[in-house]
Amino acid sequence: MKKLKVLHFPDPRLRKKAKPVEGVNEEIRSIVDQMFHTMYEEKGIGLAATQVNIHKRIIVIDVSEKKDEKVCLINPEILFLSDEAETMEEGCLSVPGFYESVSRPSKIKVSTLDYNGNKIEFEASGLLATCIQHEIDHLNGKLFVDHISSLKRNRIEKKIIKLKKEGVLTSRKNTPDYKSAV
Ligand code: NI
Repeated sequence: MKKLKVLHFPDPRLRKKAKPVEGVNEEIRSIVDQMFHTMYEEKGIGLAATQVNIHKRIIVIDVSEKKDEKVCLINPEILFLSDEAETMEEGCLSVPGFYESVSRPSKIKVSTLDYNGNKIEFEASGLLATCIQHEIDHLNGKLFVDHISSLKRNRIEKKIIKLKKEGVLTSRKNTPDYKSAV
Protein backbone atom coordinates (compact mmCIF):
# COMPACT_ATOMS: atom_id res chain seq x y z
CA MET A 1 0.00 0.00 0.00
CA LYS A 2 1.14 3.51 -0.78
CA LYS A 3 2.47 5.56 2.12
CA LEU A 4 1.16 9.10 1.95
CA LYS A 5 3.48 12.09 2.34
CA VAL A 6 3.03 13.94 5.63
CA LEU A 7 3.14 17.74 5.43
CA HIS A 8 5.40 19.53 7.88
CA PHE A 9 4.79 22.76 9.81
CA PRO A 10 4.87 25.60 8.66
CA ASP A 11 3.42 24.34 5.34
CA PRO A 12 0.39 26.60 4.62
CA ARG A 13 -1.67 23.58 3.48
CA LEU A 14 -1.82 22.52 7.15
CA ARG A 15 -3.91 25.67 7.72
CA LYS A 16 -6.74 24.65 5.36
CA LYS A 17 -10.10 23.80 6.88
CA ALA A 18 -11.22 20.31 5.85
CA LYS A 19 -14.64 19.76 4.23
CA PRO A 20 -17.22 17.23 5.45
CA VAL A 21 -17.31 13.83 3.75
CA GLU A 22 -20.55 13.53 1.76
CA GLY A 23 -20.82 9.77 1.79
CA VAL A 24 -18.69 6.95 3.13
CA ASN A 25 -17.95 4.97 -0.04
CA GLU A 26 -15.06 2.85 -1.36
CA GLU A 27 -13.02 5.95 -2.22
CA ILE A 28 -13.27 7.23 1.36
CA ARG A 29 -12.49 3.79 2.84
CA SER A 30 -9.44 3.59 0.57
CA ILE A 31 -8.24 6.95 1.95
CA VAL A 32 -8.82 5.66 5.51
CA ASP A 33 -6.80 2.49 4.76
CA GLN A 34 -3.91 4.51 3.33
CA MET A 35 -4.01 6.86 6.32
CA PHE A 36 -3.79 3.94 8.79
CA HIS A 37 -0.89 2.49 6.79
CA THR A 38 0.90 5.87 6.81
CA MET A 39 0.26 6.41 10.52
CA TYR A 40 1.65 2.96 11.48
CA GLU A 41 4.67 3.41 9.16
CA GLU A 42 5.43 6.77 10.75
CA LYS A 43 4.96 5.29 14.25
CA GLY A 44 2.18 7.75 14.98
CA ILE A 45 -0.87 7.25 17.21
CA GLY A 46 -3.12 9.53 15.18
CA LEU A 47 -3.35 11.17 11.79
CA ALA A 48 -5.77 13.69 10.27
CA ALA A 49 -6.38 13.80 6.51
CA THR A 50 -5.21 17.43 6.44
CA GLN A 51 -1.72 16.21 7.34
CA VAL A 52 -1.54 14.17 4.12
CA ASN A 53 -2.95 17.03 2.04
CA ILE A 54 -6.44 15.54 1.78
CA HIS A 55 -8.86 18.19 2.95
CA LYS A 56 -11.71 15.98 4.09
CA ARG A 57 -12.91 15.47 7.68
CA ILE A 58 -11.26 12.09 8.26
CA ILE A 59 -9.16 11.01 11.26
CA VAL A 60 -7.45 7.72 12.10
CA ILE A 61 -6.23 6.86 15.60
CA ASP A 62 -4.69 3.91 17.43
CA VAL A 63 -3.52 4.60 20.97
CA SER A 64 -3.19 0.91 21.93
CA GLU A 65 0.10 -0.70 22.94
CA LYS A 66 -0.28 -3.58 20.49
CA LYS A 67 -1.44 -1.36 17.62
CA ASP A 68 -4.57 -3.38 17.09
CA GLU A 69 -7.32 -0.93 18.06
CA LYS A 70 -8.14 1.13 15.00
CA VAL A 71 -10.41 4.13 15.53
CA CYS A 72 -11.69 5.85 12.39
CA LEU A 73 -13.61 9.11 12.66
CA ILE A 74 -15.41 10.65 9.70
CA ASN A 75 -17.10 14.05 10.15
CA PRO A 76 -16.52 13.98 13.93
CA GLU A 77 -18.32 16.46 16.18
CA ILE A 78 -17.54 17.11 19.81
CA LEU A 79 -20.78 17.00 21.82
CA PHE A 80 -19.28 17.60 25.26
CA LEU A 81 -16.02 18.86 26.74
CA SER A 82 -15.34 18.54 30.47
CA ASP A 83 -14.44 21.58 32.57
CA GLU A 84 -11.70 19.48 34.08
CA ALA A 85 -8.48 19.73 32.09
CA GLU A 86 -5.43 17.54 31.72
CA THR A 87 -1.95 18.49 30.61
CA MET A 88 -0.06 16.09 28.37
CA GLU A 89 3.15 16.27 26.41
CA GLU A 90 2.08 16.34 22.77
CA GLY A 91 3.96 15.63 19.60
CA CYS A 92 2.83 15.66 15.98
CA LEU A 93 3.86 13.92 12.76
CA SER A 94 3.70 17.36 11.13
CA VAL A 95 6.01 18.89 13.75
CA PRO A 96 8.62 16.12 13.85
CA GLY A 97 10.91 15.89 16.85
CA PHE A 98 9.24 18.53 19.02
CA TYR A 99 7.15 17.92 22.13
CA GLU A 100 5.36 20.48 24.30
CA SER A 101 2.88 20.39 27.19
CA VAL A 102 -0.68 21.22 26.17
CA SER A 103 -3.71 21.47 28.45
CA ARG A 104 -7.08 20.26 27.11
CA PRO A 105 -10.42 19.05 28.53
CA SER A 106 -9.82 15.59 30.02
CA LYS A 107 -13.16 14.03 29.03
CA ILE A 108 -15.13 14.41 25.82
CA LYS A 109 -18.16 13.00 24.07
CA VAL A 110 -17.99 12.56 20.31
CA SER A 111 -20.46 11.90 17.52
CA THR A 112 -18.99 10.52 14.30
CA LEU A 113 -19.42 8.28 11.30
CA ASP A 114 -17.38 5.07 11.46
CA TYR A 115 -15.59 3.10 8.69
CA ASN A 116 -18.91 1.67 7.51
CA GLY A 117 -20.66 5.04 7.49
CA ASN A 118 -22.68 4.30 10.63
CA LYS A 119 -23.29 7.15 13.05
CA ILE A 120 -21.91 6.40 16.51
CA GLU A 121 -21.44 8.29 19.76
CA PHE A 122 -18.89 7.55 22.46
CA GLU A 123 -17.09 9.06 25.41
CA ALA A 124 -13.32 9.28 25.67
CA SER A 125 -10.80 10.24 28.33
CA GLY A 126 -7.04 10.22 28.82
CA LEU A 127 -4.77 9.82 25.80
CA LEU A 128 -7.66 9.05 23.41
CA ALA A 129 -9.48 12.27 24.39
CA THR A 130 -6.30 14.31 23.89
CA CYS A 131 -5.63 12.62 20.56
CA ILE A 132 -9.15 13.22 19.20
CA GLN A 133 -8.99 16.92 20.14
CA HIS A 134 -5.52 17.25 18.58
CA GLU A 135 -6.75 15.63 15.33
CA ILE A 136 -9.96 17.68 15.13
CA ASP A 137 -7.75 20.76 15.51
CA HIS A 138 -5.88 19.58 12.38
CA LEU A 139 -9.15 19.41 10.41
CA ASN A 140 -9.74 23.03 11.41
CA GLY A 141 -6.26 24.11 10.30
CA LYS A 142 -4.91 24.27 13.82
CA LEU A 143 -1.72 22.70 15.21
CA PHE A 144 -0.65 21.87 18.76
CA VAL A 145 1.99 24.59 18.51
CA ASP A 146 -0.87 27.11 18.39
CA HIS A 147 -1.56 26.17 22.03
CA ILE A 148 1.95 27.18 23.19
CA SER A 149 3.67 30.58 23.38
CA SER A 150 4.52 32.35 20.13
CA LEU A 151 8.13 32.50 21.30
CA LYS A 152 8.33 28.69 21.47
CA ARG A 153 6.35 28.30 18.25
CA ASN A 154 8.65 30.62 16.30
CA ARG A 155 11.68 28.78 17.63
CA ILE A 156 10.27 25.43 16.46
CA GLU A 157 9.40 26.92 13.05
CA LYS A 158 12.94 28.20 12.54
CA LYS A 159 14.48 24.87 13.56
CA ILE A 160 12.22 22.86 11.22
CA ILE A 161 12.96 25.19 8.28
CA LYS A 162 16.69 24.80 8.99
CA LEU A 163 16.46 20.97 9.16
CA LYS A 164 14.49 20.95 5.88
CA LYS A 165 17.12 23.10 4.16
CA GLU A 166 19.82 20.73 5.34
CA GLY A 167 17.78 17.85 3.89
CA VAL A 168 17.68 16.09 7.26
CA LEU A 169 13.95 16.30 7.73
CA THR A 170 12.37 14.00 5.18
CA SER A 171 10.44 11.87 7.65
CA ARG A 172 9.88 11.74 11.38
CA LYS A 173 11.97 8.58 11.45
CA ASN A 174 15.00 10.80 10.89
CA THR A 175 14.41 12.77 14.06
CA PRO A 176 16.46 11.81 17.10
CA ASP A 177 13.56 11.91 19.53
CA TYR A 178 11.17 9.19 18.46
CA LYS A 179 8.20 9.16 20.80
CA SER A 180 4.47 8.89 20.27
CA ALA A 181 3.13 11.63 18.08
CA VAL A 182 -0.17 12.52 16.56
NI1 NI B 1 -0.67 16.21 14.80
